[in-house]
Amino acid sequence: MSAHSRTSDSKQRLACSELEDKVSDVRQSVFSGSAQNFLEKMLPYYYVALTVKTRIIAITNQKGGEGKTTTAINLAFGLAKRGKKTLLVDMDPQANTTGLFVNPDALDVSLYNVFSQSRPLADAIVETGEKNLYLAPSKITLAEVESMGQNVDAPYILRDALQGVSGYDFIIIDCPPSLSIFTINALVAATHVVVPAQAEKFSIDGMTGLQTTINSIKRRINPDLEVAGAVVTQIKAKTVLTKTILPVVSQFFRVFDSTISAGVAIGESHLARKSIFDYAPESKQAKEYSDFLEELLSELKA
Ligand SMILES: Nc1ncnc2c1ncn2[C@@H]1O[C@H](COP(=O)(O)OP(=O)(O)OP(=O)(O)O)[C@@H](O)[C@H]1O
Ligand SMILES: [Mg+2]
Repeated sequence: MSAHSRTSDSKQRLACSELEDKVSDVRQSVFSGSAQNFLEKMLPYYYVALTVKTRIIAITNQKGGEGKTTTAINLAFGLAKRGKKTLLVDMDPQANTTGLFVNPDALDVSLYNVFSQSRPLADAIVETGEKNLYLAPSKITLAEVESMGQNVDAPYILRDALQGVSGYDFIIIDCPPSLSIFTINALVAATHVVVPAQAEKFSIDGMTGLQTTINSIKRRINPDLEVAGAVVTQIKAKTVLTKTILPVVSQFFRVFDSTISAGVAIGESHLARKSIFDYAPESKQAKEYSDFLEELLSELKA
């Protein structure tokens, strides 16, 4: 044995014995101390375990243009403004949500790297400029990994990646307009589902497909998954809602009392890259999204 490895061996032994001394100190103070001493040491951990319960909400509907991205963005901003630490996950290769905050093409790390190279999600998360709001961004290259659907691990990638981040009160996942592997990942990772349904062009076939997918994921993979409800968006006339939409959508999902009417302020807020609360706080849609958020929080008992 060389002199060098002997020295490093004895250093290791010293480090081990110091560590053992420390462990023994902690043992003594916890177990030979008073019950009060023990409680004082453990209480902060129980407190953290009880208070940090992350709600993971997938905003999904496999039909295009139903208001998923608009709902995900405004829900996330609304939560952050209420002091809830929120992560907005853009699970759509179209990257509409991402584009509100950053140029997707300029990103070095995104969900693409999480899905294709097992990069930790924390490496992809960026600040948004809004207090309490963080973004896990997407970019168009994410579409390249869609074919990984054949891989047995494929449905669990987001769920596993989210286990590596902590401290969020809410995680909001914006899904693509398909029942692709990305929507499956969102439903496997989620605790709750919100289904935006556009008042004018909803489809019964679409609702059936979505309900079947949610039910089979609940049955086979994620038994705790709950449908919080469907929110009807882009309403032009209340009569259409009550006569046509509600009777049909409510056959599939609970429908939120809060609804979102159609208005130019929404499109303008996207162009201005702002939430509806920042772009037009006095608008009808800002009030409606705020009411919807309150109703959702009460449904989730959050
Ligand atoms: N309440 C509303 N009033 C007016 N326009 C709206 C409203 N909600 C959404 N829109 C507009 O409808 C279009 C589709 O909305 P959004 O992008 O939120 O839907 P989506 O379901 O995410 O679409 P995709 O399936 O393509 O991802 C957008 O141009 C958006 O600005
Ligand atoms: Mg979208």
